[in-house]
Amino acid sequence: MNKKYIIAANWKMNKTIDESKIFIEKFNNLLLEIPTSKVIFCPPFLTLFYMNELLKNSPYDLGAQNLHWEESGAYTGEISATMLTSSGISHVIIGHSERRQLFGETDKNVNMKVQKALSSGLTPILCIGETLVDRKNNDTLTVLENQLNNGLENVAAGDLSKIIFAYEPIWAIGTGERAEPEQIDEAHKTVRNVIESIGVKENISILYGGSVKSSNVNELLNINEVDGFLIGGASLDAEEFVSIINQTETHIKKDN
Ligand code: 13P
Repeated sequence: MNKKYIIAANWKMNKTIDESKIFIEKFNNLLLEIPTSKVIFCPPFLTLFYMNELLKNSPYDLGAQNLHWEESGAYTGEISATMLTSSGISHVIIGHSERRQLFGETDKNVNMKVQKALSSGLTPILCIGETLVDRKNNDTLTVLENQLNNGLENVAAGDLSKIIFAYEPIWAIGTGERAEPEQIDEAHKTVRNVIESIGVKENISILYGGSVKSSNVNELLNINEVDGFLIGGASLDAEEFVSIINQTETHIKKDN
């Protein structure tokens, strides 16, 4: 099976420019082989531009953690798609649960951002996930379906394979408690079904996020539905992050 894993680091609001430099030096020293997996760093905006210089001529991609759907104008504190693409940024996280929960981002906002990213040539990393209450009420799959159907409104079927999907159960983010393999399998299958029902069957990448660490990544790699990871806390530590990449690479070699 020739699955191309995607390993994305969501640094959230962490690391100064100096700290990111130290991280990348350590990361390069620890990682002995260039991974076959796609590695994407998503640092805060200020560091993003600097990291682009730092990672020039490297195989790693860079992603922003947000964008605005308008092209330019009076939107204090926002960043446009063109600002990102013209700075060499290729990916953008959209609809992260922290943006939805802490900054009031709605499905409609998410949808406008997805459309803007796609029309600008950015690859959206579209996040969806349920709360603990949703899960306890047996609403998980409906919540995921709604987030996807609303977030993908008016997106052409042909564009769906340009999107990276990330299933991140909110109750597993930053808690140290990852979801169970069966829960991940079921959620990813639901995501895949929704996308297939819109019209695309191939090249759909669905990442899992939520307390992924070097100590549990092996179990997660054994879930066939998982195409990679969106990692918060563990991606801030070069040793942890490299260990996750190395274990993924070993898993790929075993599979071939
Ligand atoms: P943690 O890996 O810290 O649980 O965060 C996951 C996440 O929110 C990635 O976007």
